[in-house]
Amino acid sequence: MHAIGVDIGGTKIAVGVVDEAGRILAQVRRETVADDVADIDRVIAEACTELAKEHEVGAIGLAAAGFVSPDRRSVLFAPNIAWREYPLAQRIEDLLEPDVPVVVENDANAAGWAEFRFGAAREATDMLMLTVGTGLGGAIVVDRELVRGKWGVAAEVGHMRVVPGGHYCGCGHEGCWEQYASGTALVRDARQAAIAQPARAQRLVELADGGPATITGPCVTQAAQEGDELAVELLSNLGRWIGEGSASVAALLDPELIVIGGGVGAAGDLLLSPVRKAYEAQLSALGHRPVASIELAQHGNEAGIIGAADLARR
Ligand code: BGC
Ligand code: NA
Ligand code: ZN
Repeated sequence: MHAIGVDIGGTKIAVGVVDEAGRILAQVRRETVADDVADIDRVIAEACTELAKEHEVGAIGLAAAGFVSPDRRSVLFAPNIAWREYPLAQRIEDLLEPDVPVVVENDANAAGWAEFRFGAAREATDMLMLTVGTGLGGAIVVDRELVRGKWGVAAEVGHMRVVPGGHYCGCGHEGCWEQYASGTALVRDARQAAIAQPARAQRLVELADGGPATITGPCVTQAAQEGDELAVELLSNLGRWIGEGSASVAALLDPELIVIGGGVGAAGDLLLSPVRKAYEAQLSALGHRPVASIELAQHGNEAGIIGAADLARR
């Protein structure tokens, strides 16, 4: 059976028809108005209706960046989108032309599932996936099963506190891991560095549209790839936060593989090397236990679509 997977971001929505082998047969991308949840509904429904005209689909999976209810119908809460107890599946079913069942999945769970079934983790039985983007998402597979927890919200690793009294988070607390290990954190630090250290930030600012406030993640990646010292340092800081936090997660889960996804993956080894180094430095009993591999996701920004579609079929 073919299914549609929808990856819902703050400003973009990607929709694809996915076959049983995890291949995307057709895809559309749309812009949305961030935080206008009704607009997000309308854009999703239109795109799904359009694709369902050309393809026979048996289910629709929505990958949403938030806490998803155990019946996979609602988003209970989202730190970075305005959903609160939001009956997302029902809203989309109401707006859809074809009569297709809709299920909601956490975006990182969907991406992790795609990597486990069809990507970097297909040989693994126990893995952790981290999606490093606007927020920090997690997916946990233990003994080949996706761990959802009792109420559907397991693997919200981005909200583990790593810095007492640290940066405020969209979840209402302070010092959450995603405030340090996310694309948002990278950009915040880059902009701050551009103000505090203008001489070192020359190349970064040059690559941006106009001044420190317009520096983006891709600017940092490009500058780092050119060898820019500040950009390399910013990525290595991000990598350190990812690696150290992963070592804490390993204390709990003992994964064999940690998969890193999200836009920052474009930085490749400039990010992965510091992640691995910090992971080992912080791992307890190093030298007396196997060390998990840390690899990049294989499906890039299509993982959410693929995983949501596959999970919707189950
Ligand atoms: C949310 C998660 C989501 C992650 C990545 C976090 O802020 O709490 O539900 O998976 O961001 O989008
Ligand atoms: Na998750
Ligand atoms: Zn938080």
